[in-house]
Amino acid sequence: MRHIVLIGFMGSGKTKTGKCLAEELGYQFVDVDKKITTEMKMSVTDIFSRFGEVFFRALETKAIKELRQLEQSAVISVGGGLPMQKQNHKYLKQLGAVIYLKGTVETLKKRLEGDRTRPLLEGADLEGKIRRMLTAREPVYEKLADITVTTGNQPLQQLVQEIAQKWKEYEIQYLLNSKSHV
Ligand code: S3P
Repeated sequence: MRHIVLIGFMGSGKTKTGKCLAEELGYQFVDVDKKITTEMKMSVTDIFSRFGEVFFRALETKAIKELRQLEQSAVISVGGGLPMQKQNHKYLKQLGAVIYLKGTVETLKKRLEGDRTRPLLEGADLEGKIRRMLTAREPVYEKLADITVTTGNQPLQQLVQEIAQKWKEYEIQYLLNSKSHV
């Protein structure tokens, strides 16, 4: 079963775009953070403050491994830090096409200002934090991605159409390549 996996920095719109894309394709939508917080019955912030980031990262790996058992096609949105754990790369690739939602620092900052749900962005100098984390993360997101789309410069529906189009073209090529190896 091949799914669609959305990766990208916090505030890149993975959840919103993912829901809309899933609806467009008739797929189910799965949000890894949501899966974790539902199972733990705790918010991400509480998991970080009570058990620490390392524990949260272990929950992410467990969740992404489990999603390989999904029996219906899904659009899966993963937290911005999940691709930074090398052990997760093979699971992401096994799930299907990986799509990177790429936003500029300005777009991300605008969307993340005043947010109280992301423990890694707590405190002063939001822009500096975004810049530093993005510098470390962007090369990893880009390396993992089968498709990259830019967010923040077009309406949601248009973005979803762009993703759906690029994804279809990518999957056709993927199918042709895998057939030619039989
Ligand atoms: C994180 C991103 C968050 C959440 C947690 C850590 C990160 O998810 O998993 O706060 O390290 O980038 P979103 O990317 O959905 O905001």
